[in-house]
Amino acid sequence: MPSSRKKNVVTILTRIKAPWGLVDTQGNLIEANEIFLSFFNLKKTKGNIHDLLENFSEDYGFFKAKRKNTDMPLEGVIIPYEDGLKLILIKPPSRNELEQFQMEKLAAMGNLAGHIAHEINNPLGGILLYANLLKEDLPSQSLQADYVNKIIKLATRCRIIAKALLNVGRRESGTFEQIDFNRLIINMFSLVEEHRLFKEIDIIWELDHTLPLVHGNSSQLEQLVLNLITNAAEALEGKGRIIIRTSYLSQEDTIIFEVEDNGPGIPAEIRPRIFEPFFTTKSGGKGTGLGLAICYGIVKRHQGEIQVETRPGQTIFRVKLPRVILNYE
Ligand SMILES: Nc1ncnc2c1ncn2[C@@H]1O[C@H](COP(=O)(O)OP(=O)(O)O)[C@@H](O)[C@H]1O
Ligand SMILES: [Mg+2]
Repeated sequence: MPSSRKKNVVTILTRIKAPWGLVDTQGNLIEANEIFLSFFNLKKTKGNIHDLLENFSEDYGFFKAKRKNTDMPLEGVIIPYEDGLKLILIKPPSRNELEQFQMEKLAAMGNLAGHIAHEINNPLGGILLYANLLKEDLPSQSLQADYVNKIIKLATRCRIIAKALLNVGRRESGTFEQIDFNRLIINMFSLVEEHRLFKEIDIIWELDHTLPLVHGNSSQLEQLVLNLITNAAEALEGKGRIIIRTSYLSQEDTIIFEVEDNGPGIPAEIRPRIFEPFFTTKSGGKGTGLGLAICYGIVKRHQGEIQVETRPGQTIFRVKLPRVILNYE
């Protein structure tokens, strides 16, 4: 498109605060705003609308479609533009719809993950058992013993992942009791504070000492606390400050647990994916990507909520837990 016309198009449309894209008769993207590009995770204005939207019909007017490869439903409108071009305006899903969508997706992933972990766990137990038996029969300095040790080491790693996965998808809630959440955090932290990851991190405690007891499963809640604190420390790469905060929200009869760090924050493009099992930005086997998926599962089993608030220099993970859980499984 000649640059003068392109400029015109851009000038008129820049003020629209919804995703829009201009496509030619074949559906090729000619122009689009930033919101459109970031909505579809595109780096530049390139591609075809049929690769972005599923069951997208070309008729003018309103349409309902799905974002390709995600099942995320959305609506929009197609407006005829000059020279047979079409302007596609998209109404992104509301925050509520998005949350609902995310929740369904995570629940489905969690179920699948739990299922797979269950199927894999038993054969892995067998592998470990037989490898250990084999090891007993081998001279300890032999090459074969080295190989068997490697099998044991790798199978053990698989076992740890399978166990963690079981935690993502586990359906039953375990036994619930009355928990002093402040105490649980302090105890949990005392187990890890000697770790070198925390050596140069300032911990600021902002615990509400009038916090009521909360209904929960202590080992799961310990895991939740550990995962959030570890993530904060990892984001800080060992240097910075973490605020650990609790409070009670009387109107909702819920307790609130927050872990705040002054690390780099979570970039907007990965933000929707952080709770997915196996999503990690940590390379070299440092992350499994299961920490937040496990947290999500635990919070759901406690009928609570987990939210994240993030920008460069500040990330807050906030967990809300109802003080009393009615009708838990
Ligand atoms: N406090 C945080 N600050 C910045 N990024 C975070 C924070 N917590 C989690 N993340 C991001 O979320 C991703 C997923 O976290 P998690 O599920 O715990 O997996 P892992 O820690 O193994 O990578 C991390 O890889 C990281 O990119
Ligand atoms: Mg983690």
